[in-house]
Amino acid sequence: MVKEMDLERIVDIHCHILPALDDGSRNLQETVEMLRIAERSGITDIIATPHYKAGRHNASRGTLLKRLHEVQEEAGRQGISVRLYAGNEVYYFSDFEQAMDAGQICTMNRSRYVLIEFSPAETFRTIHNAMDQVLGIGYYPILAHAERYGCMLEDWKNLDYLKTMGVEIQVNASSVEGQTGHKVKKFVHRLLENRLADYIGTDAHGSVQRIPDIQKCCRQLFKKYDDTYVEKILCGNAMKLLFPQETWGNADAG
Ligand SMILES: [Fe+2]
Repeated sequence: MVKEMDLERIVDIHCHILPALDDGSRNLQETVEMLRIAERSGITDIIATPHYKAGRHNASRGTLLKRLHEVQEEAGRQGISVRLYAGNEVYYFSDFEQAMDAGQICTMNRSRYVLIEFSPAETFRTIHNAMDQVLGIGYYPILAHAERYGCMLEDWKNLDYLKTMGVEIQVNASSVEGQTGHKVKKFVHRLLENRLADYIGTDAHGSVQRIPDIQKCCRQLFKKYDDTYVEKILCGNAMKLLFPQETWGNADAG
């Protein structure tokens, strides 16, 4: 029996599992298949995070929540017990604050945490200023797939600096495993050795490629790092997202 199965929960905080909302799952059938893959690999909870990009057609919060409920109901009918929560992966843009005020973006399960991504080529200065702005208006940013940005790969201490500001760090399971190349794997493990990563996400997009399978990643984590830290990044740290102390938005907001 693999050790990760001893965990009561494994939470995937970054997953494009809702059907036909972005470049993730294409339809309900693929979503159900993704849920089966996730469940088999030990994932118990998924925060669904469709892309939100300014200037693109983004699903409204209402549509996203409706889709989430439909999927959760279908999962129940199919005997799948994975629990789903609403979120977005926001591509940072200058009118972020206005979009938040207008209720266009789903925070992580109505907490004050928001999953944020940037262009991989973005400068550290821009990322820093953006995170400063997000924190300044009362939200807690989680940097999506921190290993994807050139400015971090060049100097991992940039991430250390973001952490001191209050930014949390998510890394992809596939990068822990080495699916995205040796350099990225080395970088991610340096983050893990220095206890800089806060969450693991699958960033899954489908049931054939980029699938929500976290098992190999879990094995590597338990082999290399102490159980307490591994439990935190797979489960413990995400509890404040699944059970937020302070919620944002109206009661119907997921
Ligand atoms: Fe993503």
